[in-house]
Amino acid sequence: MLNVVIFGGPGSGKGTQSERIAERYGLFHISTGEVLRDHIARKTDLGKLANSYISQGMLIPDKLMIKVLQHVLDTHPGETSRGVIFDGFPRTIAQAEELDRMLADRGTKISSVIGLEVPDEMLTERMILRGQQTGRADDNERTIKQRIAVYHKQTAPLKDHYTTSGRYTKINGEGTVDDIFTTICSYLDLI
Ligand code: AP5
Ligand code: MG
Repeated sequence: MLNVVIFGGPGSGKGTQSERIAERYGLFHISTGEVLRDHIARKTDLGKLANSYISQGMLIPDKLMIKVLQHVLDTHPGETSRGVIFDGFPRTIAQAEELDRMLADRGTKISSVIGLEVPDEMLTERMILRGQQTGRADDNERTIKQRIAVYHKQTAPLKDHYTTSGRYTKINGEGTVDDIFTTICSYLDLI
């Protein structure tokens, strides 16, 4: 089983690369952001609550987010059998510890954490552009600034966490989508 965490700031290319990785390696792609946006679109109770955090560029509380991920894993036993690409989870140390536990319960573990490293100015440019092209609600200047700040404060410490346990691989996320994908594959092919 190949379980990959794709890690990086907002707009670093997690979703773009995850789709390609999922297709090439037959993995189930879980984007927690997409799961939440689907709830927002369907106006569920979770969606209403999630929107109050997402619109401010804040993280959804760990306890709730862990439940959401657990539910996705529990409801897709077949699709996850070859492995999962986790996109947007974990985002805190508490989530990382819980993910290790959830996978251990299933007799598996994280194979690798791929970190897409992109400077903040480029993240901002990409998200502003996407906001103009797609209208994604949290791609506005004020929320982007907050998302990047939250990333540095709450999520970036995971780099050290995964480096210490020998699981972190840094990838330069500044090239073309194709070049970055080739670099990721040359690494994953060795696992
Ligand atoms: P989420 O949906 O995960 O958003 P994010 O982390 O802010 O990241 P994005 O989806 O914006 O970017 P991405 O890294 O996927 O890049 P993409 O491939 O799209 O989370 C949204 C919110 O949900 C959070 O703020 C939080 O509130 C909540 N949430 C989600 N998970 C949570 C969790 N675990 N705990 C708590 N809260 C949680 O690329 C970005 C753009 O750049 C695209 O337009 C793309 O086409 C373009 N692009 C991609 N690669 C390149 C390239 N190489 N060159 C040029 N352009 C590129
Ligand atoms: Mg994404």
